Amino acid sequence: MIVRSGIPLAPHTTFHIGGPARVFIEADTEEDIRAALGIAKRRALPLYPLGAGSNVLVKDEGVEGVVLKVASRDIVFEPGNDGSYRLIAGAGVRWDAVVDTAVSRGLSGIENLAGIPGTVGGATVQNIGAYGAELADVFEYADSIDTTTGALVRITRAESAFAYRSSFFKESRAHVIVRVALRLTTLGTPRVGYPDLARAREAGTPLSTPPEIAAAVRAIRSQKLPDPSEEGTAGSFFKNPVISDASVATLRARYPEMPVFPQGDGMAKVSLAWLLDRALSLKGYASGPVRLYERQPLVIVAREGATASQVDALAQEVARRVYDATGIVLEREVETFG
Ligand code: EPU
Repeated sequence: MIVRSGIPLAPHTTFHIGGPARVFIEADTEEDIRAALGIAKRRALPLYPLGAGSNVLVKDEGVEGVVLKVASRDIVFEPGNDGSYRLIAGAGVRWDAVVDTAVSRGLSGIENLAGIPGTVGGATVQNIGAYGAELADVFEYADSIDTTTGALVRITRAESAFAYRSSFFKESRAHVIVRVALRLTTLGTPRVGYPDLARAREAGTPLSTPPEIAAAVRAIRSQKLPDPSEEGTAGSFFKNPVISDASVATLRARYPEMPVFPQGDGMAKVSLAWLLDRALSLKGYASGPVRLYERQPLVIVAREGATASQVDALAQEVARRVYDATGIVLEREVETFG
């Protein structure tokens, strides 16, 4: 276990932004995580579990707390019945390495989630979703440390409370994930109904096997989303709003072409990228070194030297404009640390 003080967090985030952590701990094992919890408790500092930093905005003043980077890196396969496999991956494993390992064995379940930056732990907390799939579809259980008792507890599918970009872990904040078990299969059916994938198939892209789907998803992502190694970003900055059917009807009267995804419970998800682009003309909108990405305005990108307060100011301005135009109160997808 490595414990350090005053470590700059910018290099630990894909925004490449943020001040130092009061305490920064890299933990490999359950024991390390318990020791880190002990340090936080003794110093009365809040705990900030960190994966690859691909969904966080760290404040410029840094974090007055213990930033805990879980580094556990093992991947294990357990064959089951009927072509199914359990894949168990440490919380610190790079998510896309898990996708690579799975698809190279012909296993399906997570091929639509190829190319997403982040770790297995972060992917689970956040219930990552893209191109018609989400982590919840394959989740079996997660072993995690209860931060109040230090005990290792298994959170099952029934307890996981997955929702759009949310989970038990995100809601409760009282568990640090150690490893996650996913249920994959050799007998999967390709999910290629998402408009971008359907278009690729019409254009002749082969989409029958997990490796083919993963390759197609990566190609689509590279066209639409910025590469965090080139420009600071944390992907979608806001969630797509989920609003009542009545509010949708009012908006539809003004924006008949707005894409709407009914949720079946009197609520519907609307496309914020569409609203920002087509209703508010905010694509590429810049304020100093931060801007809404030209090819996907739900994504904020930050040039080198940008600060967290500049990102925050742009996000606030966007939220205000959306509220003024539509009455929708935006929720952030990206989490603020500090
Ligand atoms: N659109 C526009 N203009 C644009 C871009 C998009 O009008 O410039 C409209 C189009 O109608 C398009 C629709 O917006 O069909 C949806 O766009 P997209 O398919 O890119 O999906 P999204 O809803 O904007 C979500 C996730 C992404 C994920 C994609 C693909 C959220 C917050 N974001 O974006 O996840 O990659 O779907 O499935 O749900 C992330 O979470 O960081 C992320 C990138």
